[in-house]
Amino acid sequence: MSKVAIITGGGSGLGQATAVRLAQEGINIVVVDVSEKGGNETVVMVKEIGVDSIFVKADVSKPEDVKNYVDQTVSHFGTIDYFFNNAGISGSGKFFLDTTLEEINQIVGINLLGALYGVRYVAEVMLKNGGGSIVNTASSAGVIGQDSVVTYSATKHGIVGLTKSMVAEYAKDGLRVNAIAPGPTETPMVKTFYEANPEMKKNATGGIPQKRLGTPEEVAELVTFLLTSKAEYINGEVIRIDGGFTNTK
Ligand SMILES: NC(=O)c1ccc[n+]([C@@H]2O[C@H](COP(=O)([O-])OP(=O)(O)OC[C@H]3O[C@@H](n4cnc5c(N)ncnc54)[C@H](O)[C@@H]3O)[C@@H](O)[C@H]2O)c1
Repeated sequence: MSKVAIITGGGSGLGQATAVRLAQEGINIVVVDVSEKGGNETVVMVKEIGVDSIFVKADVSKPEDVKNYVDQTVSHFGTIDYFFNNAGISGSGKFFLDTTLEEINQIVGINLLGALYGVRYVAEVMLKNGGGSIVNTASSAGVIGQDSVVTYSATKHGIVGLTKSMVAEYAKDGLRVNAIAPGPTETPMVKTFYEANPEMKKNATGGIPQKRLGTPEEVAELVTFLLTSKAEYINGEVIRIDGGFTNTK
């Protein structure tokens, strides 16, 4: 039987590239996104590869939307084998004392609460069915401190704690939970930003030992490895994929 993966933030960037890569492994894909346009685009892309796929619109910061994408998955595919818990936003990039409480609540709501709700409902189904594998998207900002991203960094450090502590509770029941910590990666969002600010791209790449940004395809390859059975004995890890960036800080 084909395996089934849910991908949040599946309508763009890392989520879309991972949907395509998992589909190449014959895995059916549930695309979850707040953007209908992006979500439907990914469904078309993965169906062309030959797997079954549905789009479920959801704002991951709303628990009822999260429960709904889990229910829709179970009703369409019967189970959940893999979960790429990835939807997130970066915030305005202002210093902390210049950010509003609204912005803090929004980033925490999507990046941290959204990820917690996802694991809460998805793991329930996985454990009922004998286990499964989860990859949470952290960030370089989840393993080091940086300016201009205090709230974002707090949520991504939270993702690391979520990952490690889930393993302490449920690895014995067949659950694997890992996290990825990408450095700056050329997703459409980042590309557009740097095209408008070429000087900032120069500064960013200058601080990376490999002197280039990552690609969504490189991240998708890592996520596919971690999710699938090839990584059966890897659990509770936070894998950095950043061209050496955080190791030189
Ligand atoms: N691109 C990078 O440089 C980079 C680096 C480290 C970590 N990350 C993390 O990777 C993840 C994906 O980012 P990306 O670069 O692919 O960005 P992206 O903007 O290309 O994709 C994010 C997707 O998430 C969706 N989304 C946003 N808010 C949502 C919500 N409330 N509910 C459901 N979907 C929502 C967006 O519609 C979009 O399709 C994020 O968690 C981000 O923090 C990205």
